[in-house]
Amino acid sequence: MEDHWPAGFFDRADPADDARFYAPPRFVTHIDDAAIAAVGALYDELGVPGGRVLDLMSSWVSHLSRRPDGGLVVLGMNAAELAANPLADEARVQDLNRDPLLPFADASYDAVTCCVSIDYLTRPVEVLAEAARVLRPGGIVVLTFSNRCFPTKAVRGWLAADEDGRVAIAAAYLEDAGFEDVTTALRTPPSRGDPLYAVWARRG
Ligand SMILES: C[S@@+](CC[C@H](N)C(=O)[O-])C[C@H]1O[C@@H](n2cnc3c(N)ncnc32)[C@H](O)[C@@H]1O
Repeated sequence: MEDHWPAGFFDRADPADDARFYAPPRFVTHIDDAAIAAVGALYDELGVPGGRVLDLMSSWVSHLSRRPDGGLVVLGMNAAELAANPLADEARVQDLNRDPLLPFADASYDAVTCCVSIDYLTRPVEVLAEAARVLRPGGIVVLTFSNRCFPTKAVRGWLAADEDGRVAIAAAYLEDAGFEDVTTALRTPPSRGDPLYAVWARRG
């Protein structure tokens, strides 16, 4: 599904197993407090906490303002981080670059989120097509990101793009995965700290 992207787009400086890189737990935040607040405010605005939520590429924080009404499932690489997520009802460790198929039933979520992590996926369109499959009709997928990353683990195409280009890449991933009417937004002014870009769409 990633075949029409330029050759080398999904290569990474560190092609080694992600399990090695993510083995040590990192109980840190990857964006500043204003950007974190902007993620939670966006989720509230989009009604994310009102349903059952799957947070992909998650850790000990999911940036939701409250426990989702339908529960929260977190999926990521580090079991200790996921186990410490105070809002999660269920945690799954899965390397989405090895296996992009989500272990969940069709139409079983109201929202799929992915915060400051889409740049690490080498098969993003396959993962997002899976997000579409597990969303109920009308369910929403929300990607958020800033301008920082672990550069050895981000894909080359993302690193080569400027910030507007990354918004376009994230939107194109969603369109390639079958989502229509993709919305993009900048939720914090760059002059006031970490910028927070958001790209979202609803399953038809
Ligand atoms: C920068 S952290 C962001 C964590 C969290 N989403 C947040 O907002 O703080 C990147 C996350 O992506 C996850 N991740 C990286 N590569 C992954 C992969 N191949 N499969 C699944 N998750 C992955 C890691 O477990 C890590 O928690």
